[in-house]
Amino acid sequence: MTNKKITIKDGQTNNEIDLPVLDSILGPDVVDIRSLEKNLGYLSHDPGFMATSSCESKITFIDGNEGKLWYRGYPIEELAENSSFVETAYLLLNDKLPNINELNNFSNDISKSMNVDSSVLNMIKVFDKNSHPMAIMTACLTYLSAKYHSDIDIQNKDYRYNSTINLIAAVPIMAAWILNFIHDNDFGQPNQELSLAENFINMSFPNISEEQKKLSSKAMDIIFLLHADHEQNASTSTVRLSGSSETSPYAAIAAGISTLWGPTHGGANEAVINMLEEIKNSDKDVEYYINMAKDKENPFRLMGFGHRIYKNYDPRAKIIQKIAHEYLKKLDESNPNKPLFDIAMKLEKYALEDDYFVSRKLYPNVDFYSGIVLKAIGVPQSMYTVIFALARTVGWVAHWNEMIEDKNFRIGRPRQLYTGKSKTSYIKIEDR
Ligand code: SDX
Repeated sequence: MTNKKITIKDGQTNNEIDLPVLDSILGPDVVDIRSLEKNLGYLSHDPGFMATSSCESKITFIDGNEGKLWYRGYPIEELAENSSFVETAYLLLNDKLPNINELNNFSNDISKSMNVDSSVLNMIKVFDKNSHPMAIMTACLTYLSAKYHSDIDIQNKDYRYNSTINLIAAVPIMAAWILNFIHDNDFGQPNQELSLAENFINMSFPNISEEQKKLSSKAMDIIFLLHADHEQNASTSTVRLSGSSETSPYAAIAAGISTLWGPTHGGANEAVINMLEEIKNSDKDVEYYINMAKDKENPFRLMGFGHRIYKNYDPRAKIIQKIAHEYLKKLDESNPNKPLFDIAMKLEKYALEDDYFVSRKLYPNVDFYSGIVLKAIGVPQSMYTVIFALARTVGWVAHWNEMIEDKNFRIGRPRQLYTGKSKTSYIKIEDR
């Protein structure tokens, strides 16, 4: 703990107070404003939390200006090159890379939890076939929160470990069940000898060739790894705030899934392909859409471009871009996706050269390329954000555990700037 501080002075009263500065290992240090109201009578105000640290965390570091993303200090590029989704999940949860025994034990615990209770299938079948898969997945988590409600014990380490493993294993299996449900296919069952990515591909695409299964499972495992965590993004902040009331972890994850669903967050990968389809089917060219995106009066946004934190290239986008380009190289002219991907490459070129995008540092983000790879694998668009959610479940439970183990753990309760009416007396309806 250093004695660094900042002094602020109230211009109205000349009162001044010192606020401690807390050291960040990387990134900006933070001003601890917890005494501001008591000592100076003010709250801080930061709609959208653009400049607010909501917690202390050791899990993920992002440097948006440098385009850096580190999981527990390990650069995402090195993990994508050398690690796997399950090993990275262990790292995010335990703040260390596992040795071979630790990895085997962790993988076995996950494999044992892959046998999701088949009563979940009855719940999935209640939905219309054209229901959005994110709605069905949210319901699956709520169903599990009911099923496992009786043994909730948030402060118990074993309870937290078992819930963590259950969630990491169950969400990918339920994702495959949901995909098969909307495709009217057999639900299938997981194979405990296979990884979560291999099970997702095997269960979702049982009839593709072994070679295609291998290629798609590898791409899927990297996509899971890249989407596993991203510090205090909207859905992770939701899981933290929801979990801070000591609710069921399954219910807190359901809240995270609902937040991720939005098109400006995890829903962007689906929105990217919808946008490419719209451009492909319209009589307008790419330039027309680029100009629409640049028009302040027009709410149209180029899906898959820009980021709240990255004002440089999203490092995940660079990694997925390579996979996307590998898939694109394999596409022959007859492939129905070719026109779509040609449009994507034109948009990418514009965004990297046009001053509107370059000056605002609106680079292609992870969702721009993941939508292209998932489309190439054959995943239905409506399932893209479910895949994002299944991967981000690892980050969500890592933050949930870190929050509960934090010595300052308490329920979160943001404040507000009230600009409503002063005290107003009730008027009877006959006098209104
Ligand atoms: C994810 O938080 C996370 O970490 C999220 C995520 C994760 O892993 O959890 O990384 C996953 O959500 C990635 C982002 C996916 N979303 C999209 O691709 C949707 C399209 N992107 C935009 O909606 C937007 O870029 C956001 C929401 C991502 C970021 O919005 P900001 O930070 O509020 O951006 P901004 O409004 O401050 O933009 C600055 C300028 C504005 O123009 P000016 O006022 O300067 O003239 O850039 C413009 C914006 O109008 N702008 C865009 C644009 N994004 C921003 N213009 C056209 N197209 C866009 N996509």
